[in-house]
Amino acid sequence: METMRWEGREFLILDQTGLPGRAEYIRCRDYPEVAEAIRRLSVRGAPAIGAAAAFGLVLGAMNLKVDDPLEFLARVEEIADRLSTTRPTAVNLNWALERMLARLRSSMPGKPGELVAAMAGEAEKIYREDLEGNRKMGRFGQELIPAGARILTHCNAGALATAGYGTALGVIRAAHEAGKKVCVYAGETRPLLQGARLTAWEMVRDGIPVTLITDGMAGYLMAKGMVDLVVVGADRIASNGDVANKIGTYGLAVLAREHGLPFYVAAPFSTVDMSLESGAGIPIEERNAEEVTHLAGVRVAPEGVGVWNPAFDVTPARLVSAIITDRGVVRPPYEKTLRELGIGE
Ligand code: MRU
Repeated sequence: METMRWEGREFLILDQTGLPGRAEYIRCRDYPEVAEAIRRLSVRGAPAIGAAAAFGLVLGAMNLKVDDPLEFLARVEEIADRLSTTRPTAVNLNWALERMLARLRSSMPGKPGELVAAMAGEAEKIYREDLEGNRKMGRFGQELIPAGARILTHCNAGALATAGYGTALGVIRAAHEAGKKVCVYAGETRPLLQGARLTAWEMVRDGIPVTLITDGMAGYLMAKGMVDLVVVGADRIASNGDVANKIGTYGLAVLAREHGLPFYVAAPFSTVDMSLESGAGIPIEERNAEEVTHLAGVRVAPEGVGVWNPAFDVTPARLVSAIITDRGVVRPPYEKTLRELGIGE
């Protein structure tokens, strides 16, 4: 099932908030609809957010009634600013928008129709490259996975979070396709249950054995010797290898270290932010209280309770055994090994 589809004048987004029960597409005709879909997590996952924002920018440009190329550029830059504020943590969002603006600037001056066509071409390229990158990441990453491995993952870093195939789930898929007979433990991922709703759904559809656990069960699972390794995705990786990913990831990394298990992160180079020295500089999104006080719209906590709801956490590089990218696998010291892959150039 496609996460998103570009139809020339309209952009379709699979509404992931309805999954696994309801698989419906949102038809976007202008950029505010795309911005809202990103904000409400209809489309989510770092690479998918980047690609969706790129197409959102094309819709915004398409709807401009401006002939002057310089004014056109200024208006598109404003739209990019608006799209970039939808979610702060995943760096792929800004990466994709910057790439779109660079393409537009390099096509200047031109007629609006030509400029929009150049932008649409670039958005399609971002989408295609993400898909190809995930397949490469899968090939590199599956070499780290032993036959019969029992793999714990968190949140959803699958086809739904990308243009297709997935990052962490791409590695698992590639190991499965290589006949390694792996099985997966999916952490449910409170508060929005991306693990229970999305990862479990993807794995079941692919016929990869999957067992759902609640987030609090991971430590006991490891203590019982029921898992061999952890692989997760990332929303932003600093140049020293610190990793921002879905809230709960840090806890899993600490547990993996305590139990002597490898902790792998799979992410494309567009997720690496070489401008940041460490994870301390990564902006962490805080979302609204209802996500925690309510489950599927039903209040489960008393009125008046205080809530803290950071959507992501930062795992220090020292807990990350290796980072699997679309350019190869790197190990510490990440400042050096990420640069050696040409990331950040
Ligand atoms: O809030 P979400 O669902 O967008 O968070 C997604 C994650 O944390 C993923 O692990 C990450 O974006 C990697 S997706 C390939």
